[in-house]
Amino acid sequence: MQSVPSASSLANVPTVTAVNQENGGVNPEGPPPSLLLLRTMHVVNTLTHLLLGAVIILGVLCGNYYSIIKGPLSAHIYLCVVGYVVLMSQAVLSLSPYNGWSQTFSYQEKRFMHWVLQIAGSALAITGSIIKIVDTPDNFQTVHGIIGLIALLLTCLSMIGGIINLLFFKVNPKIIKILHASLGLLTLCVAYLSLIFAFSDYSNIFLNGVSNVRLAISLTVVGLGGLVASSIVNIFQRIYS
Ligand code: HEM
Repeated sequence: MQSVPSASSLANVPTVTAVNQENGGVNPEGPPPSLLLLRTMHVVNTLTHLLLGAVIILGVLCGNYYSIIKGPLSAHIYLCVVGYVVLMSQAVLSLSPYNGWSQTFSYQEKRFMHWVLQIAGSALAITGSIIKIVDTPDNFQTVHGIIGLIALLLTCLSMIGGIINLLFFKVNPKIIKILHASLGLLTLCVAYLSLIFAFSDYSNIFLNGVSNVRLAISLTVVGLGGLVASSIVNIFQRIYS
């Protein structure tokens, strides 16, 4: 039978928030966030995960329909959705002190996971976009295609920015981190915008009617809002720490 811990031993167990502030927070030495901010950001974080889950399922459904028409070229959709919406979005969320799954990791561990997710996500997103660019005879004729190209270029730039962050962050850690976080966020916003235009432009083929398209676009917009909110709070906490 399991023994019940005594009240005195429980008093010494650090809470998740305390662990986070000691090891994994944006600024381990900074003042603790207010209870209101803490609660709000935890709710925003949970909603963001729920909404992004729904967006991923809708993206995969589009890929499934597309595979019936175009066969292996549906890889474009799977790779871009997994790269941008699953991996790169989680790479951004993993650094937030309010993110559920990464909360008990130390700052060093979070940084490592951020790198792995970011590299894997960028590799999939870049491959997914290039597959489609090579396959399309008349390139960049649609809004989705043009914005997708900008997302691809920003993804490459973000990777270069990430390497600069790694090499030079000792020179001016704060400004380099803020610039890196801002460029990463801009990249994701542009990629999500391209996804929104994909949902809207190909609605008749993939999402079977206007109401589903509106649902898909709304879920994407609100999910992206949650991602942006987490990232901006992180950036501001860095600026004022
Ligand atoms: C974040 C996700 C996505 C990104 C960044 C992205 C990016 C791109 C890029 C760069 C191209 C090549 C444009 C060209 O050469 O003209 C493209 C084409 C295409 N994509 Fe996506 N894509 C995404 C998701 C999707 C989804 C979910 C669908 C299906 C609903 C889709 C359907 C297509 C189609 C049909 C084309 C060829 C026609 C066109 O250029 O619009 N894509 N995409």
